[in-house]
Amino acid sequence: MTVDVQPRALAIDGAEPVRTDPWPTYDKGDVFIDEEDLDAALAAVRARLYFRYDQRPHAETQTGRFERDLAAFFGVPHALACSSGTAAIALALLALDLPPGSLVACPAFTFAATPSAILLAGHRPLPVECDDDLHLDVADLRRRLTPEVRAIVVVHMRGFASDMEAVCAAAREHGVPVVEDAVPALGARLNGRPLGTFGDAGAFSTQSDKSLNTGEGGFLVVRDPAAYARAVVYSGAYEGRMARHFDGVPPPGVDDLAMPIFSLRMDEIRAALARAMLRRLPERLAAHHRNYDDVAGRLADVPGLALRRPVADHAYLGEALVFRLPGADARTTAWTAAALRAEGIDARALGDPGDTNVRAFWNWRFLFPDARSARERYPATAARLDESIDVPLSANLTARDRDHLVEAVRKVLGARTGRP
Ligand SMILES: Cc1ncc(COP(=O)(O)O)c(C=O)c1O
Repeated sequence: MTVDVQPRALAIDGAEPVRTDPWPTYDKGDVFIDEEDLDAALAAVRARLYFRYDQRPHAETQTGRFERDLAAFFGVPHALACSSGTAAIALALLALDLPPGSLVACPAFTFAATPSAILLAGHRPLPVECDDDLHLDVADLRRRLTPEVRAIVVVHMRGFASDMEAVCAAAREHGVPVVEDAVPALGARLNGRPLGTFGDAGAFSTQSDKSLNTGEGGFLVVRDPAAYARAVVYSGAYEGRMARHFDGVPPPGVDDLAMPIFSLRMDEIRAALARAMLRRLPERLAAHHRNYDDVAGRLADVPGLALRRPVADHAYLGEALVFRLPGADARTTAWTAAALRAEGIDARALGDPGDTNVRAFWNWRFLFPDARSARERYPATAARLDESIDVPLSANLTARDRDHLVEAVRKVLGARTGRP
């Protein structure tokens, strides 16, 4: 027996929307902050000591403690707090001491900050295609690894882990280091190990949309002590202050006077706020997985919708739902996202031709003066982005919000046939 389900009239056509209250996102103030976090920040303000390198021992500063807590959380020897995620990627690359102007590979699906950080570090970005699930395509990476390519920046875009085993194997064979842009995946794990700890360095952000929210900020984690010492100096530890990061152990022989300092430090107020949030990070991570698994589980059987497949079980953060409409062109996907917005869901078509979305590589005019030829150079990634829709999943999502999302997607996709 077949059940004839009538498509429902859509809000984009003037019918009743699924919801009228705003979709919860950080830029509307919907953030994962509690009184303990606010008290920590206020205590740091009241202490009147805002600069990390003052007369106090390193271990008594908020930034020093934050770095110690991060090293413990990630299970790495060294962490450096800095001013942003972009700064963290650039510092990680600078710390590798590559020849100036090196080619550095990165995925074509990432935020414009990734190639920007490569440029900031004095190098040249080399975008690489992404696969059907929008992960770095390791086969294409291997094809593009010429001797001029001196490092790889892999990105765990929208919280989904890249295949680190395959990326690191390709890097090892080519003899180049790997930096993880783990900015969108702070706290996510791949086979039990935190993202950001697979490569030579991992970069993170504490901008408001990330798992630790201090407005702006970032940090990197790194294993090699000499690379760490260089990153510390570049970040702005002048006149021997770098040695404070080594807890009385003689620091590696890095000549700080021979290096420029770029003033990319974190301040004490931010570090205090971030430390408090780090204590509650496991709670937030559990909320992200709960939200994502609920929504993805209920959308898995929707005809015409392809959810991103993770490279391993639960290898994602869960703060974004990215799905594709396989075979759809950019206009159809943009219409679908507009129809979802009309239903009250903040959906964005990643390849919308009417939107200067800087996650679409052809909009990186600083790298590709001509969008059309950029798309021709990376046809697979362009086609996948044209099919993709992104919905932010706040940690604060309620069961009602999740129900609305599932209902809106089913409603719009159920009525979509033949549109626009
Ligand atoms: C993949 C990726 N890398 C880097 C960044 C830059 O982080 P920040 O804004 O802290 O510089 C972002 C920002 O969202 C991002 O999504």
